[in-house]
Amino acid sequence: MIPKDTIDKIVDAARIEEVVGEFITLKKRGANYLGLCPFHGEKTPSFTVSPAKGIYKCFGCGKAGTSVNFIMDSQQLSYPEALKWLAKKYGIEIVEREISVEERAAQTEKESLYIVMQYAQRYFTDMMNNSDMGRSIGLGYFIERGFTKDIIQKFGLGYSSEDKYGLSREAVKNSYKPEYLVKTGLSILSNQHVEGTPITEKDIFDRYQNRVMFPIHDTAGRVIGFGGRILGNDKKMAKYINSPQTDIYDKSKVLYGLWFAKKAIQEKDNVFLVEGYTDVISMHQSGIENVVASSGTSLTVEQIKAIHRFTSNITVLFDGDSAGEKASIRAIDLLLEEGMNVKVLMFPDNDDPDSFSKKVTAEQFQDYIANNRQDFLAYKTRALFNETKNDPIRKATVIKDIVQSISLIPDAIIRSVYIKECSTIMELAENVLQQEVNKLRRAKGIKGEQKQEFQSAEVVPEFIEEENQEPIIADSEEKELLRLILHYGNVIIAVEAENNENEAHELDLTIAEYVIFELMRDEISFLNPIHQMILDEYVHQLQEGNLAEFNYFKNHLNPAISTFAIEMASSTSELSEKWLAFGVIVEKEIYNLKRSVTHTLYSLKEKRLGQMLKEKQDLLKTAPEEEQEGILREILHLSKVKINVNKLLGRIVVK
Ligand code: CTP
Ligand code: MN
Repeated sequence: MIPKDTIDKIVDAARIEEVVGEFITLKKRGANYLGLCPFHGEKTPSFTVSPAKGIYKCFGCGKAGTSVNFIMDSQQLSYPEALKWLAKKYGIEIVEREISVEERAAQTEKESLYIVMQYAQRYFTDMMNNSDMGRSIGLGYFIERGFTKDIIQKFGLGYSSEDKYGLSREAVKNSYKPEYLVKTGLSILSNQHVEGTPITEKDIFDRYQNRVMFPIHDTAGRVIGFGGRILGNDKKMAKYINSPQTDIYDKSKVLYGLWFAKKAIQEKDNVFLVEGYTDVISMHQSGIENVVASSGTSLTVEQIKAIHRFTSNITVLFDGDSAGEKASIRAIDLLLEEGMNVKVLMFPDNDDPDSFSKKVTAEQFQDYIANNRQDFLAYKTRALFNETKNDPIRKATVIKDIVQSISLIPDAIIRSVYIKECSTIMELAENVLQQEVNKLRRAKGIKGEQKQEFQSAEVVPEFIEEENQEPIIADSEEKELLRLILHYGNVIIAVEAENNENEAHELDLTIAEYVIFELMRDEISFLNPIHQMILDEYVHQLQEGNLAEFNYFKNHLNPAISTFAIEMASSTSELSEKWLAFGVIVEKEIYNLKRSVTHTLYSLKEKRLGQMLKEKQDLLKTAPEEEQEGILREILHLSKVKINVNKLLGRIVVK
């Protein structure tokens, strides 16, 4: 048991931002920090940490708590385990008082499994370093492959002897229960064991024999499994034997090397994904530590989420064989779908990262990695497209394949950048590609995603002082314009317009006409597909001579539209509340309709221009030199227009 004053000491020391920051990347937002919630899948951050209050809260899933709660939840630890974890981090010594027999008995089985695993790891390492066979065969194997002593020690590598009962007997002798040896997968139950009777030493034998051993760690650094490799190249034997699924090891959730990589992943804001244990270890030896392995199986969503807590940027390292084959790997689409930015890198000939790293110096290796990364979608487009020259049918299939990949990207701006780039490579009109992507997204019903974005857009700003998160660009302006036309569509206002001779004169328009005219004039459509659907239908009804109001949409057959209309009717406008505070809108909105409609319209335009500018600026960074001047000119033009719109906005607000 941990004494009370030690608990107080630990709780005082464990600063929430440091503890959480060890697991997820936090960005400063005013007085708080913001990051991707580790407890539920999310693509836009709503996980907030308040150093002043010493707590975290996720506005997406509602999880909240202190440093101790965070460690308990994220590491699946009991309260005393979490305290011990924190004590270790902060170098606080715990002098436990003797625990009673009952308390010992009550230790959870899981804890026992971790302890057995830790014992086994030490056993294999000891066997490698301190037995004759271990030194000559096990250690010899690693040394021959070029691993240094330091790296062998860092990764806790080891050796399992030829003795079929080596680990099992030794563990039982040291009073580890045979039952736990089986439950960790270290030992195998022989078929002489009679079901229902207690498992004894005679019923078990070792899973790993005469192999070099790679311990697998969880993100808290505990050993949860092993991979054991044969010593030679016998094609008839399984090269690796891995731990089976156990209560502490779920291979679909674990990435090999993450425990050793997480700090570097955060620092570099990038992670390298390789296939094998030896690739991870060799890269560390070459000075690259932000690397994890999928261990030969294809990547799962859970594994991607485990990485996404630390970074959104991933570089997948392929060993060198058929480019086209690699390009179609489904796991990469999964990465795109989870909102990761994906780059790929090929190794020459038949090298994998491990073998390549042994042929060059650490510096050359790092240079190779730095200079040969390619954006995945551009790579895929080129690789597939090159194979289809002069074959229109193959070409159509490839386009579909690329469209499919692009449509998975959750971020609209990034999507549009790719549409541009890939259409150039395929010599295809940009808007054709755009339409195909839109079609696919609509067909897949991206509604679920929209909904999630609304929620985070609405809740986050309350907590993150003055930080206006805008996951969908100008989303609230779109909503506000809809609200205005649905409420006041037939109210007439006088609008200044110019006639053909550039003379200003006043024109009487309804709010509906004014909004639709302004949007059409600048070819603005709403980015949020539900907003656009409502607008389309509104315009259509208007052309038929009907004014569609709330009741029309409230009872709409499309549930996405009706839900949206009901939500909008029941909440006061976010924007008009904000402007009320600035004195822009007087109490009775109707007296100031013209001003609020115009303001919303220009605010939408301003944001849209800002987005276009950002796109161009990003494009400029990667554009080939000969295109840069053209892009620069466009940027200048957009900036000028944006300044004018800003002036108009200012006038409207100040008046
Ligand atoms: N793997 C496995 N079982 C096998 C073969 C492979 O679990 N029978 C997994 C291992 O995690 C391995 C990864 O797939 O690390 C990649 O396989 P491979 O490239 O064949 O092995 P390497 O890691 O390159 O091992 P080595 O360099 O020692 O050949
Ligand atoms: Mn290899």
